Order: sequence, then C-alpha cells, then structure tokens
Amino acid sequence: MGRLQKILIPSLGLVLAFWFYSARDTFKPEMLRGKRVIVTGASTGIGEQMAYHLARMGSHILVTARTEAKLQNVVRRCLELGAASARFVSGTMEDTAFAQRVVREAQTSLGGLDMLILNHVGASYFGFFDGDVEHVRKLLEINFLSYVAMTTSALPMLKESEGSIVVVSSMAGKVGFPFTVPYSATKFALDGFFSSLRQEFAIQSINVSITLCILGFIDTESAVRAVSHVIPDTPAPKEECALEIIRAGALRHRQLHYPARAVGTMLLIHSIAPELFESIVRGSYRLENVRRT
Ligand SMILES: NC(=O)c1ccc[n+]([C@@H]2O[C@H](COP(=O)([O-])OP(=O)(O)OC[C@H]3O[C@@H](n4cnc5c(N)ncnc54)[C@H](OP(=O)(O)O)[C@@H]3O)[C@@H](O)[C@H]2O)c1
Repeated sequence: MGRLQKILIPSLGLVLAFWFYSARDTFKPEMLRGKRVIVTGASTGIGEQMAYHLARMGSHILVTARTEAKLQNVVRRCLELGAASARFVSGTMEDTAFAQRVVREAQTSLGGLDMLILNHVGASYFGFFDGDVEHVRKLLEINFLSYVAMTTSALPMLKESEGSIVVVSSMAGKVGFPFTVPYSATKFALDGFFSSLRQEFAIQSINVSITLCILGFIDTESAVRAVSHVIPDTPAPKEECALEIIRAGALRHRQLHYPARAVGTMLLIHSIAPELFESIVRGSYRLENVRRT
C-alpha cells in the first residue's frame, strides 16, 4: 500500500499537471468569436494580418492607424472574411487625445472591450544614432506614451470583461542591437511599464492579462525595406506572426517569442554571455551598408 501510494500520488500529480497546463494551452479560434477587439497600427503589416485573423474568428474589430484609405480596405476585407463587425478610426498616436478617443469609440460602438492589441509603431531610421533628441521624444510619444494612454483609458472596460492587453514589442526591446537606438529605447520602456503593471494587477487581484510579444525579423514591407540590406537573416511570415500574437493573447500568456526558436535562443545566449552575443550580432551585420550620420 505504501509503495502504491509512493508511485500513485506523484503519477496522479503529473497527469493532473499535464492536463492543467495542456488545457490552458489549447487555443481555439472560437475563443475570439464575438469578442470586442481594438488593433492599432492595422492599416498594414502585422496589424493588418491580425485584423484578418480576428475577422475569420468572428470578432468585433476596431482598427486604427493614420491612413484612412488603407483602413477602409482593411474594414471591407474584414467584413468579407466574417467579422461580427468592423470599423475604423483614423488619426495619429502622436496625439494622446487621439489615443483616448479610439478607446472611447470602442465604448460607444462596441459597448465594451475584451482585448486591446497595441501594435502601431512610428517611423524611425536604421543607422548610427544621429543625436536628434526631438526624434526620440516623438517616437516615445507614438511607441510608448500612446500605449500607456490607451491602456489607462481602456482599463475600466477590460476589468469589467476580465480581458487582455497585448503589447507588440521586439528583440530590440530586450537586448541592445546597434542602429535602432531611439526605437530600442521605446520598446524597453514598454517592458518596464507593462511588466511592472502586471505585478500590480496580481497584487490587486485584477484579472486583466498582459502579453508582451518579443518579435524577431518579420517580413513586413517596412521592416524588409529598412533592414534587409544590413541583416542577412530570412524574415518570418507576418501572417503566422499575427496568428501567434492573437493566440498568446487569448491564452493569457505573459510573453510570446516569435519566431520561437530564434528569439528563445538569442535571449538565452544573451542572458548567459552578453558580450559574446553582442559580438556575434555585430559580426553578422553587413556594416558597409549602414547609413552614416
Ligand atoms: N516587422 C518586424 O520585423 C518587426 C520586428 C520586431 C517588432 N516588430 C513590431 O511589430 C509591430 C508591427 O510592425 P510592422 O512591421 O507590422 O509595422 P508596419 O508594417 O510599419 O506598420 C506600422 C503600423 O503603424 C501605423 N502607424 C505608424 N505611425 C503611426 C502614427 N503616428 N500614429 C498611428 N499609427 C501609426 C501604420 O499606419 P499609418 O502609416 O497608416 O499610420 C501601420 O499601420 C510594431 O510594434 C513593431 O515594432 C516588428
């Protein structure tokens, strides 16, 4: 009996743990059916692809970016793909009042919010830091402060729905890469703000999940145009990336690494041997193609 207990109880524990974690990890597109979702930066790139996945899953979608003509096309396509509803608000995230207006639109037209996907990114340069402090300030407003403003405005609705915040960041928000100084600063800021906020939610028993997405090189038009002459890697597909972001958000994961193996390996090497990692990165770039100030 004693031996049976010794074997049976740990085995049962293992089975239960496996069931618990695998059940938590089972994503079903129906999880998003009828959910009210904001996607920022959805006129193109990864954000546009997220809108199409959500449309196929039957969500209510509110997309935003600056270019109205592109947003109109995204909304039309979302409706064709089966969105429960689709609408847009156009404007710039340089303006905090606009960021707050997008959230108010969700309140007015959708009656609440289940998922806030913060994905937009302002244009920057890929090259040596040029000393332009105003550019850093502007980029912080677009890539960081508007994320803070939208989160703050959306929090009452997200608390009510026990919803999710999904923050799209980058390897450059975890590790110092050359030639992305202003961009990298804004992405590190996101990690600080949202990781700290997650801790406060836990202390206050606020059931709103925060998923930080650490992305590698993805084949969006803007990224390929900006870096492919310097970085020799093959970019990962934006369609799959978009789906993985939604999946991680729906499963309330704290962090997503995409592409998983490449990002996971880089973060591991960096945590063990940062100098070695940095020297490998420098050695892999085609430095002769980098813009000089
Ligand atoms: N692609 C990659 O290799 C890669 C790697 C790591 C992380 N990421 C992250 O993934 C996210 C999406 O990247 P992406 O490559 O899909 O970007 P993208 O194709 O350049 O799209 C950026 C989106 O942001 C919008 N936007 C730009 N400036 C804006 C402003 N001032 N106000 C409001 N919206 C603005 C753009 O639309 P409008 O121009 O119409 O406003 C567009 O919809 C970003 O957060 C990025 O940092 C991407």
